[in-house]
Amino acid sequence: MSEDHLAVVVLAAGEGVRMRSATPKVMHEIAGLPLLGHSLATATSLGAKYVIPVIRHQKDALQTYIHTFYPQVHIAHQDEIPGTGRALECALNVLPDGFNGAVVVTSADVPLLDVQTIESMLEVHLASGAGATLLTAMFEDPNGYGRIIRTDSGAFSSIVEHRDATEEELEIKEVNAGVYVFDYELIKDALSKIAAQNAAGEKYLTDAVTEIAKAGSKVQALAVRDNWLVAGINTRVQLQQVASELNRRICQGWMLAGVSIMDPDTTFIDITAVLGEDVTLLPGTYLKGITKIGGGSVIGPEVSIHDSEIGENVTIRKSEINGAVIEADATVGPFSYIRPGTHLGAAGKIGTFVETKNAKIGAGSKIPHLSYVGDATIGEHSNIGAGTIFANYDGVEKHHTTIGSYVRTGSHNVFVAPVEIADGAYTAAGTVVRKDVAPGDLAMNVAPQRSIANWVLAKRAETSSAEAAKKAKE
Ligand code: UD1
Ligand code: CA
Repeated sequence: MSEDHLAVVVLAAGEGVRMRSATPKVMHEIAGLPLLGHSLATATSLGAKYVIPVIRHQKDALQTYIHTFYPQVHIAHQDEIPGTGRALECALNVLPDGFNGAVVVTSADVPLLDVQTIESMLEVHLASGAGATLLTAMFEDPNGYGRIIRTDSGAFSSIVEHRDATEEELEIKEVNAGVYVFDYELIKDALSKIAAQNAAGEKYLTDAVTEIAKAGSKVQALAVRDNWLVAGINTRVQLQQVASELNRRICQGWMLAGVSIMDPDTTFIDITAVLGEDVTLLPGTYLKGITKIGGGSVIGPEVSIHDSEIGENVTIRKSEINGAVIEADATVGPFSYIRPGTHLGAAGKIGTFVETKNAKIGAGSKIPHLSYVGDATIGEHSNIGAGTIFANYDGVEKHHTTIGSYVRTGSHNVFVAPVEIADGAYTAAGTVVRKDVAPGDLAMNVAPQRSIANWVLAKRAETSSAEAAKKAKE
């Protein structure tokens, strides 16, 4: 079938009241993408000419997301009449006059549905000449789902929503997954015939399916091969369950691709992250957003990495990294905070209790202990002494510090930006560097040390310090 004769509708206009949230239901995230993002990724992969998300509640947030990530789709707006049937009706109005063919309908709150399942539904639908094909699942706990009513011979008869079902119908475990393929003309006609006569006062899409069957067209109810694919999200409990299952699958996929994951239960990998072979992830690792981890790297325990590129054979322990590039063979942590704009060169080191921001650190350079490095450029193979502060902020503006290559700075320095320390220079311990340092110079602030003889013995007599001093003098 040609793409001109296929439309895919994604229902996303519902209120999502059961989430009890200020955030629209379909904007809640699992594995780093909103539910809407998962469903649009699938919908746009089917090669249809028309992909139509239907929106209404909190439409601004949804529209911004759709425009940003899926500019090619056609947005439909649902009017004030509620229900999935009305939503589809509004979507069909977006199609051009003379459209004919098949209409796939999915829901934005069913995020794990995959392309393969829809493609096989389409295949069966077209080959059998059915008016409607829908997906069903056998759920141990069918609570909340529409139930599939079959005739004595097992053919599809109707769908009854949970709220409208009799005691007997509630016992049925076969549920409507909310995924359909329709013949365009038939569904258009059926939708025009149904009314909102049910417990919810909504125009149900499920009633249109029943209507198609009643009118004598074939309705096929196909069983899904994996129940998780059709798990719907109405509450935060379901959100967590589906997120956890998706994470399990993502971890399993990376393990099969050559990544060692010590504890998938405490390792969370967004669907957008990419990992090389022989990466090892230790417990408590979070890989978020557009993050790339090079082969052979060891990440964790307790590491969170967001939108960052990590090279090969890097070691990162107990640290938080956001918007950074860490090149091959570098090490980070434990206990460091790497903020946006940090670029650590090959075999460089950011050690313990170090915060960096907008800092380009050359190959082989080290910031081993207890430092803040903000708005800085550091050359290659330089060493920053313990307890150093790059004082970048004068209270009004931020300024830059430049440090050359093969520089050795003493412990407990303050670099008062803007300032430059040239190649091969040293600074002494405790220096407050306010002036540029020339290549090869040693910079220091001269404040001579002096001692007041026997001060402790006189002013702190009879303390343990005084006793110790007395003993040492004997
Ligand atoms: C729906 C089905 C139910 C099925 C279940 C599967 C109906 C009447 N019921 O129930 O048979 O078992 O999905 O998950 O279709 N939406 C709109 N406009 C609206 C109302 C909803 O676009 O006016 C959208 C929602 O945003 C959501 C989807 O349609 O993405 C499904 O709506 P929801 O209210 O969650 O339906 P369920 O009660 O789950
Ligand atoms: Ca739902």
